Amino acid sequence: MERGLKASILLATIVCASVSTAKSECTDKTAPMQMRLAYAGDRGMTVSWNTYSKLDHPSVRYGLHPDSLDRKAVSDVSVTYPTSTTYNNHVKINGLKPDTLYYYQPQCGNSSQIYSMKTARPVGDSTPFTIAVAGDMGLIGPDGLTTTTGPNGGTAPLGPGDNNTIQSMESLKSEWDFFWHPGDIAYADYWLKEEAQGFLPNYTVADGQALYEKFLNEYFDEMTALTADRPYMVGPGNHDSNCDNGGTTSNGVAYNISICPVGQTNFTGFRNHYRMPSQESSGVENFWYSFNHGMVHFIQLNTETDIGGGFVAPDEPGGSEGMNSGPFGSYPNEQLDWLKNDLESVDRSKTPWVIAAVHRPWYVSAKNTSGSICTICKDVFEPLLVEYGVDLVMQAHTHYYERNQPLNNYVIDPAGLNNPQSPWYITSAAPGHYDGLDSLVRPLKPYVVYAQDTAYGWSKITFHNCSHMTHEFVASRNNTILDTATLFKDRKCEPGTGGDDGGDDTCEI
Ligand SMILES: *[C@@H]1O[C@H](CO)[C@@H](O)[C@H](O)[C@H]1NC(C)=O
Ligand SMILES: *[C@@H]1O[C@H](CO)[C@@H](O)[C@H](O)[C@H]1NC(C)=O
Ligand SMILES: *[C@@H]1O[C@H](CO)[C@@H](O)[C@H](O)[C@H]1NC(C)=O
Ligand SMILES: *[C@@H]1O[C@H](CO)[C@@H](O)[C@H](O)[C@H]1NC(C)=O
Ligand SMILES: *[C@@H]1O[C@H](CO)[C@@H](O)[C@H](O)[C@H]1NC(C)=O
Ligand SMILES: *[C@@H]1O[C@H](CO)[C@@H](O)[C@H](O)[C@H]1NC(C)=O
Ligand SMILES: *[C@@H]1O[C@H](CO)[C@@H](O)[C@H](O)[C@H]1NC(C)=O
Ligand SMILES: *[C@@H]1O[C@H](CO)[C@@H](O)[C@H](O)[C@H]1NC(C)=O
Ligand SMILES: [Fe+2]
Repeated sequence: MERGLKASILLATIVCASVSTAKSECTDKTAPMQMRLAYAGDRGMTVSWNTYSKLDHPSVRYGLHPDSLDRKAVSDVSVTYPTSTTYNNHVKINGLKPDTLYYYQPQCGNSSQIYSMKTARPVGDSTPFTIAVAGDMGLIGPDGLTTTTGPNGGTAPLGPGDNNTIQSMESLKSEWDFFWHPGDIAYADYWLKEEAQGFLPNYTVADGQALYEKFLNEYFDEMTALTADRPYMVGPGNHDSNCDNGGTTSNGVAYNISICPVGQTNFTGFRNHYRMPSQESSGVENFWYSFNHGMVHFIQLNTETDIGGGFVAPDEPGGSEGMNSGPFGSYPNEQLDWLKNDLESVDRSKTPWVIAAVHRPWYVSAKNTSGSICTICKDVFEPLLVEYGVDLVMQAHTHYYERNQPLNNYVIDPAGLNNPQSPWYITSAAPGHYDGLDSLVRPLKPYVVYAQDTAYGWSKITFHNCSHMTHEFVASRNNTILDTATLFKDRKCEPGTGGDDGGDDTCEI
């Protein structure tokens, strides 16, 4: 049933110039929309976009100047799934120069659709850079987070005149290299809650299937402002699995996963929409993978299925809320074995920083209901994160911002941010979605340094050099920095190599 999902190998080939798209093949249904990028190894970039009809061989023209897109990459990956109204096209471009600005145009793009993409900084490059991070970002606008909520619920609408997180991130786009979104993307499954709360008064449960895809399309449309020219690196969250929002009661009826049609269960949309660099890092699909960017090794983990350590998807305790999803690994401990191998293979002389992102947190001032505190994730992942000296763990899922101390097994590292041995933990899950923000559970946990649950915002992380990294929390409404903290690691910085600037050896003309 999951048409095309097995065709996940991206057979991109490079074809030299003089191949322009035959315009006659282009119709309204092949017009590109929802452009999004993802790093694909040190020399690659995956360009993804959607079309209303299937493309036989999705292609992207690209080059170093907008008026000379003299190269072309082609793939055979144009995939959809039952209930979707679009096809997801994925073209991986290889053999690019690192840290280089290219211009590109998707197949059937018009002259106003020439975008740019900047490749990853070479491994070992010690030039400072900044990234954007936030989990749990939902649809913004009339079907999601806006200036009103339903009469029967919903919290913290946008204030009139407030910028939302997309606008805030867009206004600061020149400052960050890519956006890392560790799960809960779009909240298409909120159609049910929005109906139940009277926010969508003119729809019934029977409209859910169509609303789910409508919400997804609206989300990807609005995110294009960010993702067409900045890589969008994603991980799995509970709201990416099924159509029923983990169960919602409406007019006294308790709905569950049985109302979700094929196509809206088991992370199907999530698997179709993206191609994260798991082939390059021996991970699994968009569920767990890693990538390097300059002096940092980034690791995306999966807290929703495949946790391992004796727990088996689809009903492992961490994956609560009747997700009935996964497994996606080929054996129960695959993710854990992968994490160990991945951490073992990091060359800290090149990437001194190692940063992990998870969806479900384990160090957070939250109620422990519905598996919100993922203690089994802690039990399974934490020993490796400590053993290999991971510097920072970005958590999501609970909709507020909380900065903790570095921690190991609930014990605060006595060094604080001054060369700790334990990983630093930050929860950044307040970019906004229909249901606003959650409330911190007070008193806050003893390890909390700063927390706030009243402003929408996102994280900016700056890597200054091998020893200093600064985390800032930006309030979306006015771009004010509400919190800032710098982690120091006592490491001797090797002189910056500028990395290997080879590459781009294919199709030179
Ligand atoms: C070109 O694409 C843009 C962006 O999708 C669209 O707004 C515009 O209408 C298109 N122009 C033409 C001439 O098709
Ligand atoms: C709001 O966002 C817009 C568009 O991204 C930007 O131009 C403006 O500076 C932002 N306003 C504030 C107060 O940050
Ligand atoms: C629902 O439909 C009624 C009657 O057509 C209309 O007046 C109302 O504005 C609609 N509400 C929304 C939120 O679209
Ligand atoms: C799910 O809902 C259906 C229909 O209301 C019901 O028959 C079924 O028992 C429910 N399943 C669970 C696990 O609650
Ligand atoms: C979810 O999809 C994966 C991959 O196709 C499959 O192996 C697994 O059995 C599915 N899980 C459920 C609960 O359907
Ligand atoms: C949270 O709840 C889970 C399951 O109910 C339990 O296993 C775990 O120990 C709890 N964790 C904390 C920190 O209370
Ligand atoms: C690293 O960056 C920090 C913050 O900008 C600076 O204070 C420090 O001197 C730098 N260290 C080295 C070795 O360059
Ligand atoms: C910006 O917004 C934050 C969050 O609501 C608020 O605390 C702060 O006072 C605002 N700053 C300015 C300068 O308006
Ligand atoms: Fe979540």
